[in-house]
Amino acid sequence: MPSRYRGSAVRILFVVSEVAPFSKTGGLADVAAALPPAMVELGHRVLLVSPRYRGVDPETAPDDGVERAFVDHPAYFDRPGLYGEAGGDYPDNDVRFDFLCREAFRLAAKRRFRPDIVHAHDWQAALAAYLVHAGRTQQSKGRSPAAVFTIHNLAYQGLFGRETLARIGLPPAAFTLDQLEFHGRVSFMKAGLVFADVVTTVSPTYASEIQTPEFGHGLDGVLRIRAGRGELAGILNGADDTRWSPEVDPYIPARYSAERLSGKARDKAALQRRTGLPVDAATPLLGVVSRLDFQKGIDLVADAAGDLVAAGVQVVVLGSGDPALEARLGALADRHPRWIHATATFDEPLAHLIQAGSDMFAVPSRWEPCGLTQMYALRYGTIPLVTATGGLEDTVEDGVTGFKMPLLHTPAAQRAAFVRMVRTAAGLYRADRLAWRRMMRRSMAKDFSWKSSARGYEELFEGLLRRRTG
Ligand code: ADP
Ligand code: GLC
Repeated sequence: MPSRYRGSAVRILFVVSEVAPFSKTGGLADVAAALPPAMVELGHRVLLVSPRYRGVDPETAPDDGVERAFVDHPAYFDRPGLYGEAGGDYPDNDVRFDFLCREAFRLAAKRRFRPDIVHAHDWQAALAAYLVHAGRTQQSKGRSPAAVFTIHNLAYQGLFGRETLARIGLPPAAFTLDQLEFHGRVSFMKAGLVFADVVTTVSPTYASEIQTPEFGHGLDGVLRIRAGRGELAGILNGADDTRWSPEVDPYIPARYSAERLSGKARDKAALQRRTGLPVDAATPLLGVVSRLDFQKGIDLVADAAGDLVAAGVQVVVLGSGDPALEARLGALADRHPRWIHATATFDEPLAHLIQAGSDMFAVPSRWEPCGLTQMYALRYGTIPLVTATGGLEDTVEDGVTGFKMPLLHTPAAQRAAFVRMVRTAAGLYRADRLAWRRMMRRSMAKDFSWKSSARGYEELFEGLLRRRTG
């Protein structure tokens, strides 16, 4: 395949704790599945290193030019969960993910893969940036790789007790404010924020938000310093349309496109049948596919359930996580079986059917680094209803491709804004089908290709390499 890249290929060691279709708890897995092949397509080499969790079969890797190595250590990774089980996190996550980072370098060396860039994602891979830094003291600067750390969610920081340093063989000197110490604990996230050559996050708006106390989770100070030196960038994720497109989706009963929308009505009927809701094309259907976590604001959907039913909107929620919210949504579905359906599992095929079969898609997040589901919704002509924050702000145009509500500071005001937004959208759906279809077509025409995100990373990597060798 011809590449537009004219320089020499960059060798990227991509360290990540989950990658679809092998392992997934959220959008990070989708990014790890899509960004590496997009980099390969630009002419670069990528070695992706990720844990071999229970059930991962390395033999099933797609043939997309990405080199993959799975860290095979059953004592750490052959477990039912990735990071923990219902009761909480695994207590040895510090050693598990320290091991992932160290193994990444060992496996690369074993394959004689000498990275130019080590690209580490989220706290689980953040120690890779520390290891690059530590390695630099032992070799000449020009030969060591540059480290790039990408924040997918600042809320999960990998915080452990002080004793973790000894457990993972780091010197006590690392326990300072300008290194890994964070309010008396060891922060893996800080290893990435402090030691990477460049820190990135997954949308331009989130890159500015995390420099404020409101969104900084206590780390805004460090981020302001990095940003002040021009070392913090926001690169918007893409949406993988080989997996998420109504034109090719293997999970939906009827395929469709902006030109031939009729299949969407059949998918809606299939979704209504599947969820036990009355099959009715005229009733607006609001879909949700989400982790049930404070971040995602799905409690607002539960709070607003009575108003949504009164507004004549069917609601389908696929979400797991917070047990109390799962139970609450289940109870609402029992109370309003003709209007509300809730499934509390992780169900990839159902996630696709909801994207295709819903008219509207809610993402009422309190913060959202990028958010992929609203981009998928746009692709499926399912109008996103979102909070104006992070990547949601950057990908949805209010009244053009979707609807936005502002982020408000009291639960009652936020709930009222959410209900208003749903009523506005449902009102348009009922009153003006032509205008609705125009909006669908505008949404479906949006291009969030991984190619342009990959070019953003390419430019960043090349700039770093020029700086380091120049
Ligand atoms: P986050 O990574 O914060 O959870 P994103 O929007 O980036 O949010 O990505 C979420 C991904 O996880 C999407 O691919 C979405 O379809 C998927 N997902 C979330 N919850 C479920 C679920 N219960 N079943 C299936 N897929 C889910
Ligand atoms: C995180 C964020 C989400 C983002 C995803 C992939 O899980 O919560 O907003 O889309 O990572 O970058």
